[in-house]
Amino acid sequence: MKKLTTLVSAAALTVASLPALGASPWMVENNTTKSECSDCHMAYAPGFLPERSWLAIMNNLSDHFGEDASLGDAARQEISNYLVAVAPKELRGVSSIAVPLRITDLRWFRGEHGSRLRNRAENNPNIGTMSNCTGCHRGAERGFFDDD
Ligand code: HEC
Ligand code: HEC
Repeated sequence: MKKLTTLVSAAALTVASLPALGASPWMVENNTTKSECSDCHMAYAPGFLPERSWLAIMNNLSDHFGEDASLGDAARQEISNYLVAVAPKELRGVSSIAVPLRITDLRWFRGEHGSRLRNRAENNPNIGTMSNCTGCHRGAERGFFDDD
């Protein structure tokens, strides 16, 4: 099994600046994030989006992809601080003025996941959408993505 850090150079996904704290960008290591952000989908790891995207998401939880994912102030602030601390400032392939809200819209993601996979996700009730990483990658929460 290849760790995502290997993939990173392979897929030219390399982050411009690595996070402080020695925390892994490819799995969620903050317990509040793990519990509060995994009710409706797996808790996505901070490395998949740039800082500004996490801020935009965390500042608009009441209107979250059609759901109300609001949290109390303390939890919201803790999660926001964690994601921003570990996320890269810039993500290669993403314009520095773009604020993508979806991993599944990023160019590398679309490159790795073509229409055949999209159809497979949509036609399988156990998967549903491409946002359901764990539907295909059983090791996703541990940062493994080549095990499907
Ligand atoms: C009440 C349910 C709910 C909760 C709680 C929730 N989300 Fe979501 N989230 C959604 C839905 C619905 C989508 C869209 C999924 C889809 O298109 O299949 C989504 C999508 C996302 C995406 C984009 C996924 C993609 O397609 O690339 C991100 C990033 C995200 N959520 C982050 C978070 C974070 C961070 C938290 C915790 C603060 C959180 N979510 C909590 C419902 C939720
Ligand atoms: C419908 C199934 C499916 C879904 C859903 C899915 N993937 Fe994938 N993913 C694949 C397949 C198939 C590949 C290409 C084969 C491979 O490398 O294992 C792939 C490749 C990848 C790779 C490159 C792996 C490598 O080693 O080169 C990453 C990273 C990845 N996916 C992340 C994600 C993330 C993050 C999500 C959720 C936002 C997701 N995937 C959702 C099926 C899926």
